[in-house]
Amino acid sequence: MTKRVFIATHGCQMNVYDSARMAELLTPLGFVRAETPENADLVILNTCHIREKAAEKVFSELGKIRALKLRRAQQSNGNMLVAVAGCVAQAEGEEIRRRAPFVDLVFGPQTYQRLPEMVMQALQAGNAGVVDTSFPEKLKFDDLPPTRLGQGVTAFLTVQEGCDKFCTFCVVPYTRGTEYSRPVAQILDEASQLVAAGAREITLLGQNVNAYHGAGPDGEPCGLGQLIEALAVLPGLDRIRYTTSHPRDVDDSLIAAHRDVPQLMPFLHLPVQSGSDHVLAAMNRRHSADDYRRVVDRLRAARPDLALSTDLIVGFPGESETDFRATLALVDEISFAQAFSFKYSPRPGTPAATAPGQLPDRVKSERLAELQTLLARQQRRFNRGCIGRRLPVLLEKPGRHPGQLVGRSPYLQSVHLDADAGRIGEIVAATISGAGQNSLSGSLAA
Ligand code: 5AD
Ligand code: SF4
Repeated sequence: MTKRVFIATHGCQMNVYDSARMAELLTPLGFVRAETPENADLVILNTCHIREKAAEKVFSELGKIRALKLRRAQQSNGNMLVAVAGCVAQAEGEEIRRRAPFVDLVFGPQTYQRLPEMVMQALQAGNAGVVDTSFPEKLKFDDLPPTRLGQGVTAFLTVQEGCDKFCTFCVVPYTRGTEYSRPVAQILDEASQLVAAGAREITLLGQNVNAYHGAGPDGEPCGLGQLIEALAVLPGLDRIRYTTSHPRDVDDSLIAAHRDVPQLMPFLHLPVQSGSDHVLAAMNRRHSADDYRRVVDRLRAARPDLALSTDLIVGFPGESETDFRATLALVDEISFAQAFSFKYSPRPGTPAATAPGQLPDRVKSERLAELQTLLARQQRRFNRGCIGRRLPVLLEKPGRHPGQLVGRSPYLQSVHLDADAGRIGEIVAATISGAGQNSLSGSLAA
């Protein structure tokens, strides 16, 4: 009998990838993915722990799921299993079942390959619950079956996971664990399957993707640049992207890939976090603002039309007005096509959370507003600069208006244009005629 699984995904693209793999793991058990949690047989919250009140948000979401579970039990005598996955599950573990005893399953990002087994166990165990937030010796990817489901025209592929950098603000090294890389052959296999299922663009994912050092065919470690070159040989894979990267791990072979591999899209998310050397040191980023400038110069020399995106944190403990001005100056100089900016939020268990010099929220808000004004201006300028250009657009899905499709430019901008729905999956030439804050509009080029 068909069963329905609803998966709510929060946080980063790696969670999107993990959710797709979870759904896939459950198909042999007869599960199909549902669009809503009502009447689902299994609800999975795939959670993110990166920002403040993450756990509180999960408990509040669980409150709503509990009501659905009760209604389900009353109305149809059916059972709704509830699972908490992802980084909050990893961080909170047993605590989740203590505060929300109706939760049947708790598992972290490194154990979901056991999902079918855990579901069977939960069904048998009644209310005893199954919790697995271990970091198994055996790597998850060695136990995951080959992927069968297409994720569409664009797909994510996790090549590296975990982080050993220990930036002082970040929970990732504690929730995703230590860094590891999948072997090249395993990645090439998965990429071929995704292409066979219709993907034309693949985004390589990793918490620190350019620290990738998976075993190559000869057993020797292979860097991200070489991996990208190996993927570029696959027929039908027209676009390659990767995210998210660390400035210290941009090596010569990656820069060479930006120069030599036409499939590697000219858009790079390269978080800098701050423009002040003093703050960067306190963050344990292990690079200076000038190091970042130099890396960007080298990348732009290799690929002159490279568009950059970044992450920035304002109000880090001890950040002075002068430090903040240094961030504005760096942003001004580099000019980002797109960026994510955040107020520093203390994460329990991380060194910065208890550091002296915590700043009042008012200061953080003011700095964030000033920074975001500058970033918004840069993004508009970049988008407007595309007007009149002819850009290749990978058509992904129907747009909001009838007859309209949405696709992506090489620079990851959404492009809206009129085209027949049958053309989804094609890379078309578009003449750009309009630009907004977040997207472009245009028409099929003659
Ligand atoms: N406070 C604010 N922003 C954070 N980020 C990570 N941890 C924190 C924190 N404690 C931001 C960083 C990172 C992005 C994914 O989230 O900018 O690059
Ligand atoms: Fe977190 Fe720093 Fe690792 Fe990125 S590099 S995941 S910010 S510890």
